[in-house]
Amino acid sequence: MIDIHTHLIPNIDDGSKDLQDSLKQLAKMAEGGVKRVYLTSHYFRGHYQYSRDEYDKRFNLLIEKAKEEKINLDIQPGFEIFLQPDIITDIQKNSLTLGNSPYVLIESELNGLPNDFYNNIYPLLRAGYKPILAHAERYVSIMRKPERAESLSHRNIYMQTNSGSLLGMYGEKVMKTAWTLVNNGWTHFIASDDHVRGTYFANFEARAEVERRIDHHTAHLLFHEYPEAIETQDIIPYQYVHIYRPSHRHKRRNWLQRLFA
Ligand SMILES: [Fe+2]
Repeated sequence: MIDIHTHLIPNIDDGSKDLQDSLKQLAKMAEGGVKRVYLTSHYFRGHYQYSRDEYDKRFNLLIEKAKEEKINLDIQPGFEIFLQPDIITDIQKNSLTLGNSPYVLIESELNGLPNDFYNNIYPLLRAGYKPILAHAERYVSIMRKPERAESLSHRNIYMQTNSGSLLGMYGEKVMKTAWTLVNNGWTHFIASDDHVRGTYFANFEARAEVERRIDHHTAHLLFHEYPEAIETQDIIPYQYVHIYRPSHRHKRRNWLQRLFA
C-alpha cells in the first residue's frame, strides 16, 4: 500500500503537532503494510507558505528519527497545493511535486470549484505537470454532479479520494459521492489525508471495504498500482474502466429457447 496524501510533518500546517506523534503514526503505517508515504504538507500562499529549505529541514529531521526507530517505510516529500493565480511560479521555484515526479497534488475552494479553476490549472498541464485533485468527493460541485469528476479527467486531471470519505467520516453526502467515484472508475488514487488526529486506520479499513464491495483488483489499482506509478513513471490511464456494450441486439428468442437458455 502507498499513501500519497498525509500531513505528518510536525508544525508546518494543520497536521501533526508533535514529532513523537508523527513517529508513532509512521510506525503504525509500516506495521499495517504501507510501504511508501508522501508527506504532503499544505502549501497555501499567505497561510501555509514556506521555502523548500524550511520544508526539507523538517522533512529530514523526521526521516532521521524514523531511521533511528527502525521504521521500515519509504518516506517521500510532497505538498498539497492550494490552487491560486500564478501558483506555477511557486511550484517551479520550490519544486512542489510528489517526490521527483511531475505529479502535483492540488486543492481548491470546497464550495464549488471556482470559475478560474481551469485558468489556474491549464498552465500546469502545459508545463508538463500532472495535477491530481485532492479529495475530489468533498467539492460541492462534484457532490451535486459526480460526473464532473469524469469531465475533469478528460482534461487530464487525476482524482484522489480520501479513505475516510468512503467510511463516512465526512458525512453521508461525501460518502455517497466517494463511492460513486470509485464505482464508476472516476478516481485514480485512494489516500488517507491523515492529519495525526487519531490512530492511522482509515486506509486499512477503506481498502478492505473496496475489496468487499468491488474486488481485489480495483483495491490494488487504487491503493497500490497507480500510486506506485508516480514513482516508476508508468502511465496512469485517465479512463480505466471500460464497460462492454454489445454493438447489436440479440434476436428475440422464442419460448423454447428461453426455456432452455
Ligand atoms: Fe490534505
